[in-house]
Amino acid sequence: MSKKLRLGALASGGGTNLQAIIDRCQDGSIDAEIALVISNNPDAGALERARRAGLKCLCIDHREFSSRQDYDRAVVKALQDAGVELVTLAGFMRLISEVFLEAFSGRIMNIHPALLPAFPGLHVQRKALEYGARFSGCTVHFVDGGVDTGPIIIQAVVPIRDNDTEDSLAARILEQEHLIYPQAIQLFSQGRLQVNGRRVKIEPPLEPSPAALVNPPL
Ligand code: GRF
Repeated sequence: MSKKLRLGALASGGGTNLQAIIDRCQDGSIDAEIALVISNNPDAGALERARRAGLKCLCIDHREFSSRQDYDRAVVKALQDAGVELVTLAGFMRLISEVFLEAFSGRIMNIHPALLPAFPGLHVQRKALEYGARFSGCTVHFVDGGVDTGPIIIQAVVPIRDNDTEDSLAARILEQEHLIYPQAIQLFSQGRLQVNGRRVKIEPPLEPSPAALVNPPL
C-alpha cells in the first residue's frame, strides 16, 4: 500500500469541516491521515473533536505572539515537525502571512462558504442574502497571498430560498462543504490537481457536471 498523505488541519471554531475530514480519512474515502490539528483558540470545538478522534492536537494561541509572522513561524514549525504535506484551513479565522505561504507553497487549501469570487471575507451568507443572489454555495481553493483569492479546486452551488435566513442558508452550505472538502483533499492526495495560473485542472478528468442549475426553476 502506498504511503498516506500527511494532513495538517487548522481550525478556530466548531470544527464540523474537520470532523468531515476525520470521518472520510477513517472510512478510507481519503487516502490521507491527519498528522496534526492546530487551533489558535483554546475553546475551539475542533480541538475537542481532534482529541475524541485520538489525533495529535495543539493550541497555539495567537495572543501569545507579538506579530503575525512570529505566530506563523510557530505554526509552520509544528506542522513541519509533524511531517505535514498538505495544510487544510477549516474555519481558521486568521490571515496567514508570507512566512506560512513560503513554507507550504501550493500546499495550503481553504474552504469558503460562498461561490468565489462572489462574497470573499466574512459574514458571506448574510451578504449573499442581502444582495438578492439566487445561488450561493461553497468553494475549496488553494491559498495565495490574498483574501479568498487563490486558484479554485471545487465548488458546490446552493440555491437561495425566499424564506432563507442567514442560519438556514449557512446550514445548507455547510452540508456541501462537508462533501467537497474531502473530495478536494482526495484529488490532491491522488496527485490529480494541476495548477496552471488561476486554473486548476483535474487529471484524469471527472465526469462533467450537469449543464445548468436554474433558480427559480423553469
Ligand atoms: C465554514 O463555513 C467554513 O467555510 C468557514 O468557516 C466555517 C467553519 O465551520 N471558513 P466549522 O468550524 O468547520 O464547523
